[in-house]
Amino acid sequence: MAGAVTIGWGSSVPDNVVTNDDLAKRLDTSNEWILERTGIRERHMGGVTSELAIAAAKEALASAGMEPGDIDLLVLATTTPDALVPGTSAIVQGALGTRGGAFDVNAACSGFIYSLVAAHGFVLAGSKRVLLIGAETLSSITDMNDRTLAVIVGDGAAAVVLEAVPGQGELLSWNLGADGLLRHLLCCEHGGYLFMDGKEIFRRAVRIVVDSAREAIVAAGVTSEQVDLFVPHQANVRIIDAARERLGIPEERAMVTIDRYGNTSSSSIPLALVAAITEGRLHAGDLVLLSGFGAGMTWGSALLRWGG
Ligand code: UT7
Repeated sequence: MAGAVTIGWGSSVPDNVVTNDDLAKRLDTSNEWILERTGIRERHMGGVTSELAIAAAKEALASAGMEPGDIDLLVLATTTPDALVPGTSAIVQGALGTRGGAFDVNAACSGFIYSLVAAHGFVLAGSKRVLLIGAETLSSITDMNDRTLAVIVGDGAAAVVLEAVPGQGELLSWNLGADGLLRHLLCCEHGGYLFMDGKEIFRRAVRIVVDSAREAIVAAGVTSEQVDLFVPHQANVRIIDAARERLGIPEERAMVTIDRYGNTSSSSIPLALVAAITEGRLHAGDLVLLSGFGAGMTWGSALLRWGG
């Protein structure tokens, strides 16, 4: 049996920081409303998905002490690809020169979890080192005059390098789900803008996250009290708090980065994970719970024993 452990990480966000007050200058909104209803203070906006992905990947490779040629699979999660065809993973692969396959995953805000589980499956099937990237430029598909969405979205990318190890590795358990009959709640037609029924998603999100996380926790044979760090999708701090409380995870064991990044969809979980690592919030042996939900609807959770 082969598992995988995380040996490198990196992130990249556009230089352009947009504060709530910046948005309030041209939209009928306020810093107070945005902060209270979402937990967001500021977000980074701009850039191109592949360029953010490449920058995050380079940082992850450097921190792993690896060259692109050491990688034999590249998985890129995004809902905002540079083009319909080819996949953004191909553009990133071409720029970096990684070996082996490269493909995109579009599972919206659950994309990183789906990609992580897929990467572990590839490792089980023989891949040695996987470069896993979440990258988004949500601002490029957002109507900046739509105050509901303009205040929420952010852009950025984060990447990890996974390496095959003998034994189980980091992934203890996982849970993935989808309900395509709910696709109308969050969608974007070709050439159009993002549409979101925020209230309805909010109503469902807490239960979805809690159920999915519980499935993963039970499958790993642990309890939520044992979770050292909860790294949820950063859609709304109220969703994070409600899910965390229902799971019985104290506030200090949850990673919250929505205040600085906003909702970055596929990038939100890896950005929070990389922030947790660089801020010293993760230690070898820690039990880490990743949980996401989003358009599709899709959802997913992964329970990791950090460092394998
Ligand atoms: O990434 C995964 C998928 N996405 C999500 O998980 C998002 C889930 N949904 C949410 O986070 C929340 O529903 C939002 C943050 C989008 C909205 O917050 P809310 O507390 O559900 O607000 P609401 O839609 O119930 O609106 C409350 C009021 C309304 O005014 P009235 O009807 O009470 O007079 C809105 O028109 O707030 C108004 N409003 C705003 N006011 C100031 C809506 N957007 C804004 C805004 N600034 N940006």
